[in-house]
Amino acid sequence: MSRVYNFSAGPAVLPEEVLKEAAEEMLDYNGSGMSVMEMSHRSKVFDEIIQTAEADLRDLLKIPDNYKVLFLQGGASQQFAMIPMNLMKNRVADYIVTGQWAKKAWQEAQKYGTANKIASSEDKTFSYIPDCSDLPISPDADYVYICENNTIYGTKYKTLPNTKGKILVSDVSSCFLSEPMDIEKYGIVYGGVQKNVGPAGLVIAIIREDLITEDVLPGTPTMLTYKTHADANSLYNTPNCYGIYICGKVFKWLKKQGGLEAMKERNEKKAKVLYDYLDSSKLFKGTVEPASRSLMNVPFVTGDKELDAKFVKEAEAAGLVNLKGHRTVGGMRASIYNAMPIEGVEALVEFMKKFEKENA
Ligand SMILES: Cc1ncc(COP(=O)(O)O)c(C=O)c1O
Repeated sequence: MSRVYNFSAGPAVLPEEVLKEAAEEMLDYNGSGMSVMEMSHRSKVFDEIIQTAEADLRDLLKIPDNYKVLFLQGGASQQFAMIPMNLMKNRVADYIVTGQWAKKAWQEAQKYGTANKIASSEDKTFSYIPDCSDLPISPDADYVYICENNTIYGTKYKTLPNTKGKILVSDVSSCFLSEPMDIEKYGIVYGGVQKNVGPAGLVIAIIREDLITEDVLPGTPTMLTYKTHADANSLYNTPNCYGIYICGKVFKWLKKQGGLEAMKERNEKKAKVLYDYLDSSKLFKGTVEPASRSLMNVPFVTGDKELDAKFVKEAEAAGLVNLKGHRTVGGMRASIYNAMPIEGVEALVEFMKKFEKENA
């Protein structure tokens, strides 16, 4: 067996310990005589899996009691519609557009009401997070929407926007559980788990209870109504059982690592190795304004497309894979999620140094 250093933006690297445990339990989970993939989502065994997962997540994020945790399907993209369908009582919402995912969410919301773009960083190819301290928040906005970590462009909010009392909704897909969060500052926090937490096909939404009502837009399907899933503790229909099981294991792994404070420290240390090198390199250049840099996704370029392609190819041959930038922006991107060990980032920087020398 040989494992590579996988810098994929998602689906992405998972803790080896978790994968090994899942492999060991594949044929017989905990004496049940079957795989988690084969068992009823109504069984006692699975009930314990989902309940333990939720309890551990609550513990990690210190989720207050008046927030529900929902395990949903449909990808993060489905939330682009579910959020307006469930929250747009006045049919008005404000969006801060800091990248393609925020833009897609904003565009989707336009199907349901007036979605105002109240700030954007598109003028500089989404390379920064705009100042959100005094935005023109609409008086009748049902919520303010952000994408907290922009996977493609490698930016992250360092302070949350001043929503002037409006509900904040945040897509945390690519920074979920990478550091502590103050859940009380949000109405909804949600993320596709396939970046930092688990396998694709599962979205975790943490929603303040008073936002979960029957008062949704006319025509909202049962499956797209938060209340359906909240009332059934995420078991209205068959959930992504195996995904929940793996996420549960990742939550345990995170607790073993010391929780989210410890992860933040580790992630800062890891990202610094790469950013410090980018700041000193004559060949490679980070594309994000330093104040907005993400700890999870680090885009960089040489400024020469052919050299970029050569780098990606040679890195892959050296066991450093999935470094190609998003198809819409080019260059390179190293995603260095929780499960990427510091040794992986050090190996990448060593390789970049060697490449720089050879291609000076
Ligand atoms: C920040 C962010 N939001 C949303 C999405 C869309 O996720 P999904 O493919 O689960 O719909 C992605 C996917 O890469 C993402 O990075």
